Amino acid sequence: MNNGSVIAAEGVHSMADTVKQGAGLRNVVAGESSLCWIDGERGILTYRGIDIHSLAEQSTFEEVVFLLHRGKLPARAELAAFSQELARERAVPAATTALLKLLPPATHPMTSLRTAVSALGGLDPDANDDSPPANARKALRLTAQMATVVALVDRVRKGRAPVAPDPSLSHAANFLLMLTGERPRPEAEKAMDMALILHADHEFNASTFAARVAASTLADVHGAITAALATLKGPLHGGANEAVMKTLQEIGTPDRVEPWLRDALAAKKKIMGFGHAVYRTEDPRATHLRRMSRQLGEANGDRRWFELSERLEALVRAQKGLNANVDFYSASVYHSLGIPTDMFTPVFAVSRIAGWTAHVLEQLGNNRLIRPESEYTGPRDVKYVPMDQR
Ligand SMILES: CC(C)(COP(=O)(O)OP(=O)(O)OC[C@H]1O[C@@H](n2cnc3c(N)ncnc32)[C@H](O)[C@@H]1OP(=O)(O)O)[C@@H](O)C(=O)NCCC(=O)NCCS
Repeated sequence: MNNGSVIAAEGVHSMADTVKQGAGLRNVVAGESSLCWIDGERGILTYRGIDIHSLAEQSTFEEVVFLLHRGKLPARAELAAFSQELARERAVPAATTALLKLLPPATHPMTSLRTAVSALGGLDPDANDDSPPANARKALRLTAQMATVVALVDRVRKGRAPVAPDPSLSHAANFLLMLTGERPRPEAEKAMDMALILHADHEFNASTFAARVAASTLADVHGAITAALATLKGPLHGGANEAVMKTLQEIGTPDRVEPWLRDALAAKKKIMGFGHAVYRTEDPRATHLRRMSRQLGEANGDRRWFELSERLEALVRAQKGLNANVDFYSASVYHSLGIPTDMFTPVFAVSRIAGWTAHVLEQLGNNRLIRPESEYTGPRDVKYVPMDQR
């Protein structure tokens, strides 16, 4: 039966109404997953059932990757072995550097990153092996390599020599070392580690869903992650953190927030870093990032970006009823860590690769091709008009 209407308890709705309610697949359960659970009404986020606040305060990114990939927290010896595995897989082939050098220096880092990760699909030792064990190896390798490639993207475009990873350092410290060429201070390493934990997974967000759609066709792991990277770039998703920093810089000083917001809302502009498809209350990740933004600003002796952010947050909440999301305070956090603004979204990928790869493995473990339907709104029964009669 497909007569354009659906029967619901309260009566008959047109299919178009149903599609409108679920526009952008909002409120549509599109599959099963045991990785991440969100309660948007109460602001709860869990990875494998463990609350994000406990993970942010007590775990490390390496532990979180183990948790997402292997389904449980690692014991001490398991974590040590896993950290060594990550360290072994961190290097990328020299061809990656050569490829990145072919791109114009003005290329957006997300475009460079997506290109490099796609190329790694051909350079990978398990290229052309899509067996479950090879896919698990590729998932771990890509998780280790993402930080290396992101750092490389920035160094190559600036004409700087790549910095080799240091196997004695954590994933977070390694990333900052490879990016800046300097061993990070302990508080910078801690902040980076926490940012990586907070961004590691988020249910069926747009980039993860893109990865799962690609994986569901039995495309290879690198292809699925390339699709995720392409999707993350957009300012409505991962690109928002970069857009937030540009907003803060455009505003400039806390006293300019009010007139700036008045003009932006009058022009019906979206305020980047606010609103969320799922959370109706504070995004639990924002709670930690707000604190980190304040602490890092104070440690740097520069509270300007935190104060400006806090002022904007208060006004947007009061005037629009919108809460800050994960991207809002991550902007000032990354800025305080000395990360260039257009590298913010690649930094998101350094973390989210953990979730993407876990979702790809989960999808492949119980696969069915993802293939929804559309509600057709075009004309029907249109006659074909031969060329000379048009
Ligand atoms: C994240 C986002 C895409 C969620 O979208 P959504 O759930 O589909 O919410 P909608 O876009 O339907 O928004 C509902 C209403 O709030 C408004 N709104 C939502 N976010 C807004 C924002 N950041 N600034 C201004 N208005 C906003 C919408 O314009 C819409 O108003 P309307 O009903 O009058 O048209 C949206 O909030 C957004 O674009 N935010 C800015 C980008 C961002 O920070 N993205 C990162 C997300 S983690």
